[in-house]
Amino acid sequence: MWYFRSPEIVFGEDSLSFLSLLSIKRATIITDRNLLKTDIPERVRRALGEGVESLIVGDVSEEPPLSEMTAHLGRINEFSPDWFIAVGGGSAIDTTKILFFLYERPDLTVYDVTPLVQLGLRKKSRLIAIPSTSGTGSECTWAAVLSEENEKRKHELASREILPDYAILDPALVLSLPLEQTRNTATDAIGHAVEAYGSTWHNPFSDAMAEKALELILGNIESVIKDMKNPAFRNQVHIGASMAGLAFSNSQIGLVHALAHSLGARFKLPHGKTVGLFLPCVVDYNYDSCTERYDKLNRLFPDKYRVGRLSDSIRTILKAIGQAQTIKEAGIDEKEYFSNLDALVTLAGESTGMVTNPKDSSSADLRNLFIKAYRGT
Ligand SMILES: [Fe+2]
Repeated sequence: MWYFRSPEIVFGEDSLSFLSLLSIKRATIITDRNLLKTDIPERVRRALGEGVESLIVGDVSEEPPLSEMTAHLGRINEFSPDWFIAVGGGSAIDTTKILFFLYERPDLTVYDVTPLVQLGLRKKSRLIAIPSTSGTGSECTWAAVLSEENEKRKHELASREILPDYAILDPALVLSLPLEQTRNTATDAIGHAVEAYGSTWHNPFSDAMAEKALELILGNIESVIKDMKNPAFRNQVHIGASMAGLAFSNSQIGLVHALAHSLGARFKLPHGKTVGLFLPCVVDYNYDSCTERYDKLNRLFPDKYRVGRLSDSIRTILKAIGQAQTIKEAGIDEKEYFSNLDALVTLAGESTGMVTNPKDSSSADLRNLFIKAYRGT
């Protein structure tokens, strides 16, 4: 027996106005530090309509540790919201999922969030995610990534009950997304679609989402990079990124994310960039276990990017949008990188991404992939 799980999705122009239809009384709006400098949190607050009380928690940092998240709980409990609204990228949305859980179940800890435990959430509140980036897919997933500060590792929490009730995909919210974040988050989304499609848990629903996601992202991302304020191009990539999120949420990610989370935990690089650094190498590595499916995906690439194999087509699009091709090119010092190699391999080997990758990997395989991704050979 299989399931396909999704939030109710509101998308397209002016979709933010949907908030006023929800009879919200007290909304906790959780957003990140960069977004707080823009008018977006205030636009969300206005979209709630007259008479709605709101509490803005606006100092979520990039991939915050648990201690930083829980520092907000006292204020939130006192405010007693009936809705949580995440506004931002993956960090803000994942933080909101975790705070929503802790608000609902103060008797539990984050380590109780597993797919095997019935949490009984939604006794006091519900959850909305409004992404301001086009890539993490977190608005459509039942997972949250938690950075473990002192251990330099990332912990992946998963429960169907932390899937948002609604995802609102308003293209107006991504029009000002800076270039570097635009290319990194799009790269992340391409990685989600490719990994979902290659996953051993792939299914017809996740396949359909992955294929359409790639069509929308590959067909529009270069146009977005050239014309950043174009709402039509942005809208296509924004929808594609959420479809890629639905694809991997319903089939799982793989080895690319195992390696990327490991690298991102030891070296401060944006998540999407780390995904792009491993994606072509892992597709090459997996190819003999996933040949037919990868060849099929390759045929979805627009002519201008498509070359012999999927891995090379991915390299072409990533180069076209200005991504670094190797970890060395991304600026990581060689000596420091190789002195961390053992830890990187160990961390990657512990990741849940290892479970559904189309090809099993030994520690030696992981080591080779880390070396190859650094040097590009
Ligand atoms: Fe990702």
